Amino acid sequence: MTITSRNRPFSRAQIRELLEGKDDDWLFSRAALATELEFGNEVYLRAIVEFSNYCANQCHYCGLRAANRALGRYRLSTDSILGAVHRAAANDIGSVVLQSGDDSYFRADTIGWLIREIKARHDIAITLSLGERPADELGLWRYAGADRYLLKMETFDRTLFERCRPGADFDGRLKQLEWLAAMGYQVGSGIIVGLPGMTLDTLAADIEALCDLNLDMIACGPFIPHPQTPFAAAKSGDVLSCQRVTALLRLLNPGANIPATSALEVLKPGARLKSLRRGCNVVMPSFTPEDVNANYNIYPGKNGSNGDARARLHALRAALAAEGLVAASCRGDAKTRRYRR
Ligand code: 5AD
Repeated sequence: MTITSRNRPFSRAQIRELLEGKDDDWLFSRAALATELEFGNEVYLRAIVEFSNYCANQCHYCGLRAANRALGRYRLSTDSILGAVHRAAANDIGSVVLQSGDDSYFRADTIGWLIREIKARHDIAITLSLGERPADELGLWRYAGADRYLLKMETFDRTLFERCRPGADFDGRLKQLEWLAAMGYQVGSGIIVGLPGMTLDTLAADIEALCDLNLDMIACGPFIPHPQTPFAAAKSGDVLSCQRVTALLRLLNPGANIPATSALEVLKPGARLKSLRRGCNVVMPSFTPEDVNANYNIYPGKNGSNGDARARLHALRAALAAEGLVAASCRGDAKTRRYRR
């Protein structure tokens, strides 16, 4: 990952026009074609294990914010985390995401131990999504075998970032993305589409900023207001805008892994599948144990679907097959390397 301005196929003005919906047929059909050229009809699966909903941060958009006293907090035991990963592997999933709030309870060596245990037991790629951590901890986890790290900026607009994430360090977060790339992680970032105060100009600039990072994974989902947050009364992000963003990102980053987020599905049933036909190539079913998964309540409706992980996965595979897509069981590495200059 190098932070450079490259020659882009679209000017800022063209990105802006496509975000306005000036040429959706063209945008979505090109994004579908680009995805098919890279990934064929394969959709990569990531089993996400949300192992702690404790969070030290106060993000105005997120239900896990520390000030939300209405939320029942949980932390999974290491045995329970390993059990969830085992269920994912047993269900033919080639990649897991370990995610939590910003929770310092889990020490670096505990996470390192977990990574080693998982790698000893399973041939599976590991993505970490644990927020901002010191460089020595990130290095330790990479050394232990972690493959990827996901750290979303949520927006690259400093003013909006600071308004949405009080106390957070914009430059420090960007710096962490640089460290991660230097350590050899496949690096992911992303934005929330439709944060209160976000305009189409913000989105166009955010798309360019994401491209400049040469990311391996780019995750963008629509904003959903959570009642126990300062943004409770704000309006939701728009599903179609979000699909335009991910379609543009596909054209600008052909080999990147781009998930169709669960937030899409919450706002509009069927939208996640549709996004896989509009530039996305990844889905992330939750493998968080059922007794706690409803408490991973980032936004209303998250982890809301019924049934155990296995039944939901079965339904997901069937829905993909009905679209002519195949749920791949491989690690699902990004195909970005060959685009690097
Ligand atoms: N609506 C949509 N997405 C959200 N996230 C957090 N809060 C919300 C919300 N209210 C996303 C952020 C975070 C990821 C885990 O969930 O992008 O990085």
